[in-house]
Amino acid sequence: MSLLATKRLRKHFGETHAVDGVDFTVNQGEVLALIGSNGAGKTTLVNVISGLLRPDAGTITFEGADITGLSAHAKISAGIARSFQLVNLFDQLTSLDNVALAIFSREGKTRQLLTLADGDRAVRDEAIEILRQFGVEAKASMVAGGLAQGERKLLDVAVAYALRPKLLFLDEPTSGVSTREKAPIMDIITSIVRSGRITAVIIEHDMDVVFTYSDRIVVMHQGAILASGTPDEIRRNDEVTTTLLGTSLPR
Ligand SMILES: Nc1ncnc2c1ncn2[C@@H]1O[C@H](COP(=O)(O)OP(=O)(O)OP(=O)(O)O)[C@@H](O)[C@H]1O
Ligand SMILES: [Mg+2]
Repeated sequence: MSLLATKRLRKHFGETHAVDGVDFTVNQGEVLALIGSNGAGKTTLVNVISGLLRPDAGTITFEGADITGLSAHAKISAGIARSFQLVNLFDQLTSLDNVALAIFSREGKTRQLLTLADGDRAVRDEAIEILRQFGVEAKASMVAGGLAQGERKLLDVAVAYALRPKLLFLDEPTSGVSTREKAPIMDIITSIVRSGRITAVIIEHDMDVVFTYSDRIVVMHQGAILASGTPDEIRRNDEVTTTLLGTSLPR
């Protein structure tokens, strides 16, 4: 059984058919890359699945249950978390507090952040451990606004990970960082995801990253799914290479 499945999912913005009858399936345990040109509908699809936007039509099933109408908060409780294309951090708070806030919110204790200074040891320890896993422990007491772009991207994923999701959507985790930084960031993210047995959907434009790190690739084009397959199958798919013309697929 698939972990997540959408059926004929639709989200239009006036004349723009951002998501136009999409059947999208995520299998348990896979690292799936969701690709497609600018405006293909990738972020909108994730916004609808994660509850930020309501679909116009269609259904979303997660672990066999219909979650179509759930709020974003209820979907987090169900086990779906996401990071954002533009990072979504509290810039005035420290890295540690950004992660601690996610832990508190996971436990339904959103108002207790101010007490962290007094020491909620378990939360603090967990937050430090998560920062360590993501390689940014040294920046625990630095405000998020003061971090380098690569560290901000990692912290943003760490915050989503702190919600302890079963399914994690990452919207362009390496955007805005130098080519040199992309591989170390993806190494960290995918090793955490795989060792934690989390299922991940990664929206990504860099084809080297996509073909190196994903088990399966889903290609979106103009609000619809154009193709789905292993990296090898997608590489050999002429319709995909033609549609994504200008994007060279690594052989
Ligand atoms: N809130 C909105 N209101 C109106 N139109 C929107 C809204 N969000 C997205 N769109 C439009 O829907 C289409 C799909 O946008 P979306 O952001 O989902 O694409 P994307 O595949 O994530 O692109 P990118 O790779 O550039 O991030 C685009 O034409 C976009 O302009
Ligand atoms: Mg997008």
